Amino acid sequence: MKPLTFVNHAGGVGKTSLTRGVGAELASVGTQILLIDLDPQANLAGWLGIVGVQVQGTANPVAVEGADLPEPVG
Ligand SMILES: Nc1ncnc2c1ncn2[C@@H]1O[C@H](COP(=O)(O)OP(=O)(O)OP(=O)(O)O)[C@@H](O)[C@H]1O
Ligand SMILES: [Mg+2]
Repeated sequence: MKPLTFVNHAGGVGKTSLTRGVGAELASVGTQILLIDLDPQANLAGWLGIVGVQVQGTANPVAVEGADLPEPVG
């Protein structure tokens, strides 16, 4: 497995769009892809059809409060 992380401190610079695009391109050539959305905005999840997730259902409480991982959805 090769983890890829797209990080930039600035907001709105295309991190999520690039993640979605790279994921789609790699999947289109047969690569098995797991996209992990750690942003409590959940834009990547939303763009992939997972809507209505509240912040308590994201990884945010895991990082901020040490909560257990949420149940997977989608
Ligand atoms: N290559 C591009 N050309 C033009 N617009 C783009 C491009 N990539 C992303 N955008 C647009 O820029 C906006 C911000 O993109 P995106 O949500 O991917 O950024 P982000 O870095 O993930 O933002 P945030 O910090 O809020 O998570 C979106 O409206 C997106 O459609
Ligand atoms: Mg984003």
